Amino acid sequence: MEPSTEVRIYPKPKKACKKVAQEIRKYISEWPKPRYDIALSGGSTPKKLFKVLSKKHRETIPWDKIHFWWGDERCVSPESDESNYKMAKDNLFLKISIPERNVHRIKGENQPETEAERYAAEIRNNLKNKNRLPVFDIIILGLGEDGHTASIFPDQLHLFHEEKLCAVASHPDTGQQRITLTGKVLNNAKRIYFLVTGESKAARISEIMNNDDAAKSLPAYHIEPVSGVLVWFIDEPAASKIS
Ligand code: 6PG
Repeated sequence: MEPSTEVRIYPKPKKACKKVAQEIRKYISEWPKPRYDIALSGGSTPKKLFKVLSKKHRETIPWDKIHFWWGDERCVSPESDESNYKMAKDNLFLKISIPERNVHRIKGENQPETEAERYAAEIRNNLKNKNRLPVFDIIILGLGEDGHTASIFPDQLHLFHEEKLCAVASHPDTGQQRITLTGKVLNNAKRIYFLVTGESKAARISEIMNNDDAAKSLPAYHIEPVSGVLVWFIDEPAASKIS
């Protein structure tokens, strides 16, 4: 385990989400500056986090300084229930006061290759650079049962080492196209918070934490901040197979 990696295990998903929310608030209070760029993950797990942020931190986080981005998005309409943006809008943005210009959604309705270029340009035009790459303050990631993270899937591991900032991926089972940040942007973040809950993730967590050979084919295994900090927020069921 890298020295800049921490593993925190909590009894329940909601507790893990509360701790992620507290960690976001702590980062903002410890590093006062005019703007913070935070990339969100999709799927179902972050929904609990968004609810905690909207209920417990509505007044404690300076939302006007926060710019929200995504680590990945499904190539669907922003009105689709599949949309990561819609999930964040319904569970967070509509419940806090955040300027619309602070929400930088990936436009899933656009032609995928064109949108990957457009989103990459928006990132370059907005974020400061570190190690000659755009640097996010915080990137929140989830873990798929197959070991994917963002939308980098095991059968497309090359996207982790892609030259570009953003790439077009496709879900291995459904074929659904996705836009994803690539590994070099993910690993350039100042803070990466991996939020992983549920028994269904236990096998992957065990492979990654135990540094099994099987882990090396998992995109999530290759998340290793170049100069930032990685914190795993895991509930007990997901941690149940760590030896
Ligand atoms: C997505 C996510 C993806 C997600 C994992 C875990 O768009 O699906 O960004 O990487 O984090 O699939 O999803 P759950 O939280 O639903 O298990």
